[in-house]
Amino acid sequence: MPSIPTHTLPSGDALPAVGFGTWDMSDDDVHHAVPTALDAGYTHVDCAEGYQNQAAVGEVLANHDRDDLFITSKVLPPHLHYESVFEALDRALTRLGIEALDLYLIHWPNPAISLRETLSALEKAHADGLIKNVGVSNFSVHYLRFAQYMADVPIAVNQIEFNPWYARHELVDYCQEHDIVVQAAAPLGRAVVLNDPVVQDLAGKYDVMPAQVCLRWELQKNIVVLPQSTNPDHIHANLDIFGWEMDEADVRRMDELDRGQNAYQLDLDDPIYGITP
Ligand SMILES: NC(=O)c1ccc[n+]([C@@H]2O[C@H](COP(=O)([O-])OP(=O)(O)OC[C@H]3O[C@@H](n4cnc5c(N)ncnc54)[C@H](OP(=O)(O)O)[C@@H]3O)[C@@H](O)[C@H]2O)c1
Repeated sequence: MPSIPTHTLPSGDALPAVGFGTWDMSDDDVHHAVPTALDAGYTHVDCAEGYQNQAAVGEVLANHDRDDLFITSKVLPPHLHYESVFEALDRALTRLGIEALDLYLIHWPNPAISLRETLSALEKAHADGLIKNVGVSNFSVHYLRFAQYMADVPIAVNQIEFNPWYARHELVDYCQEHDIVVQAAAPLGRAVVLNDPVVQDLAGKYDVMPAQVCLRWELQKNIVVLPQSTNPDHIHANLDIFGWEMDEADVRRMDELDRGQNAYQLDLDDPIYGITP
């Protein structure tokens, strides 16, 4: 089993630097891929109510020791009113079959609902022991500043799209200067960036997969990676990123690949992610 480095959150909890992403997985995918990941040594699972597969994840988690795992979930933008946060959290805990989440994230900011109201609910859930750490996702510096100003608990994490073609240096710098751990959603750019000639060149140089080049670069930038895969070889490879290091010059080469090209965005027409008043 690989020894996975961790980030110490303001609570003192250890956040593993690699997590297993569960977006876009059917229940069947979950039943195959999540056990493969946990058996391979992943100790951190990234979930969300929007992925609509948390009950299947819960069925897998039931076969593992809860104390060995770091479990994240996210609350959708339409559920950010005070009572709705608790209802969404209750559903997540029930489906996942756990007593508390290690990390609960606001999945996307919702300009139609008071951030202060949402944070009050998260603070209460934190005080009640239902969530051990509070974080956000897809927050800009602008939203982060408001969240930090208003929250009585530390904003421990900002989960944002981050990969070689969407590297968001200013946002990452802001987070890291303010002790907010950056988690890379879509760390492989949904596999599109794996064809980048520089990524391919470095894969040849270090004799690794293009995906491992991306993940290693992200780790060396102190970013937590959340690769998703249903392929057992890929699941294992994406965790096999600790026995080597990328030269500083190659890290800088990777830094220059940024195109400002995102792999995902909020789809206001998708009722799952839709923002309601
Ligand atoms: N907070 C947010 O709004 C947000 C948004 C997006 C994602 N996320 C989180 O981040 C996780 C990862 O992002 P993502 O799922 O969007 O995309 P991703 O991890 O960047 O890419 C996943 C794709 O890469 C392929 N892949 C994985 N490992 C590979 C390897 N070693 N070699 C070649 N191809 C490989 C997978 O296909 P195979 O199955 O064939 O391996 C899959 O098609 C999500 O699952 C979710 O947990 C969060």
